[in-house]
Amino acid sequence: MRHYYDAIVIGTGISGLTCAIHLKKAGLDVIVMTKNSKINDCNTYYAQGGIVAARDGDSPHMLREDILNAGSSYNRMDAVEYLIQHGPGMVFDFLVNDVGIQFSTDEDGRIDYTEEAAHSIRRIVHFEDHTGDKIEDSLIEYARSIGVQFFVDYTAVDLITNNHHSRNTQELYKEREVMGLYAINNIRGEVETFFSMNIVLATGGIGNLYYHTTNPVSATGDGISMAHRAGAHIINAEFVQFHPTSLFHRDIKRFLISESLRGEGARIKDHDGTEFMSLYSEMGDLAPRDVVARAVFDRMAKTGKEYMLLDIAGYYNGSVPLEKRFSKIYSTCIKGGLDITKEPIPIVPAAHFFCGGIKVDIRGRTSLQNLYAVGETSCTGLHGANRLASTSLLEGMVWGRASADDIIAKKYRINPERFNSIPDWEKPQYTEEFDPLLIDQDMKAIQLTMWNYAGIIRTEKGLTRAEADLDYYSHRIMKFYKEAKLNKGIIELRNAVVSSSLIVAAALRNTSSVGCHYIEKKGNTLPGDHKA
Ligand code: SIN
Repeated sequence: MRHYYDAIVIGTGISGLTCAIHLKKAGLDVIVMTKNSKINDCNTYYAQGGIVAARDGDSPHMLREDILNAGSSYNRMDAVEYLIQHGPGMVFDFLVNDVGIQFSTDEDGRIDYTEEAAHSIRRIVHFEDHTGDKIEDSLIEYARSIGVQFFVDYTAVDLITNNHHSRNTQELYKEREVMGLYAINNIRGEVETFFSMNIVLATGGIGNLYYHTTNPVSATGDGISMAHRAGAHIINAEFVQFHPTSLFHRDIKRFLISESLRGEGARIKDHDGTEFMSLYSEMGDLAPRDVVARAVFDRMAKTGKEYMLLDIAGYYNGSVPLEKRFSKIYSTCIKGGLDITKEPIPIVPAAHFFCGGIKVDIRGRTSLQNLYAVGETSCTGLHGANRLASTSLLEGMVWGRASADDIIAKKYRINPERFNSIPDWEKPQYTEEFDPLLIDQDMKAIQLTMWNYAGIIRTEKGLTRAEADLDYYSHRIMKFYKEAKLNKGIIELRNAVVSSSLIVAAALRNTSSVGCHYIEKKGNTLPGDHKA
């Protein structure tokens, strides 16, 4: 089946939906595709803390300083300027006024701004502690109400480019242009051909490449891997951000304990009750996320414990009862037999956010013609070497809009002849049904390799070992890919090994520790070492 659209957005988080909504409102024929069977199954849905928004007493200067401090000044300056000028106000103009989202308020009915690590002012709006699902479901409803069409259960296989796919040999000599994508209908198992001169990758992050993560299983680096295969530039891939506090629990996995708990007073402690964050940073529990994640990891190693503790019970002094302010965390922990109003929460660091990705400019344009990337799969350079809390939803929204504006302003002409020269997906002649257990096993091997050798504290030796292991998995997986009957699992596995290799290669190239890329070397000790 061959489809033709003005624009195709792949991914249903805040960046993809914001882009699609603006395109639709401008009259473009746009579709949004997701590999999942539930539209809201994406990282945005799981965001807890909130989103940076405009408030009296704040200023672009203060926000700029906080972003640069968190990012070790590795940030791209024009991206920082763009976000601080356009982002905080857009939360109200778009999310509140257009989409109709109501964020949490205090007893007097005023917006309740919360705090997270490394912010110099309380500037984060939230909906209790499930800001993400509130935003995600509201955006989906709004997009549907204006007629955005969703293609659910379609997994993108590869981008189509003139150079790679056209049967017209003259296209080989032209500048590379993305012209669409092949995507498999997960239910029917058939690959369909989608044409558009505006493809927007909004495919999310890479958390699921790691053994411990706060991300859903779908975060397998699909966009990064597809863009890389098509020839787009990937940058800053060594900067994987680990969240210091994910729940450590036998039965509850991938569950974030929001940084806003620390913003509301919670303290990180050792098993004997010692607060140790001041050994690692004078900002203590509210130091930037890379510093806190490393400190928790280091303390776990030094004390031989599998987890540390986060205590909110004795420190919370908010006006809204704790059970309501953190309703999702409270109810999830209660289900696991833990009452956060009475006892400390066992926590471990976990892969959380990818600060690197597909290189884009201020308008979300990648290095390939007609290809845009927005949200976590992209690298605007905003976050530098480490992201400031509650700026990821903001970045997704701002660049979702910016890329839509660029597409709307673009004068393009569809030339059916060029599309006619692109063949449909060619099925290999012989394919085998593979046991899903094999795919699962290979994914676990990748996750352990990445966690052990390309995680919070890295060494050159470990990264070299990861490179060799991934090389080996890669050969096996590519063989699989050629011989197996194509399905979502195989596609994700192939994308996972490509994205992991990109991260490891970048980590080996950058031999200096900066932000969330930390290389342990002789004589290079963590700040807490001499006192711990
Ligand atoms: C959190 O709630 O701790 C996560 C916020 C973020 O990742 O920005």
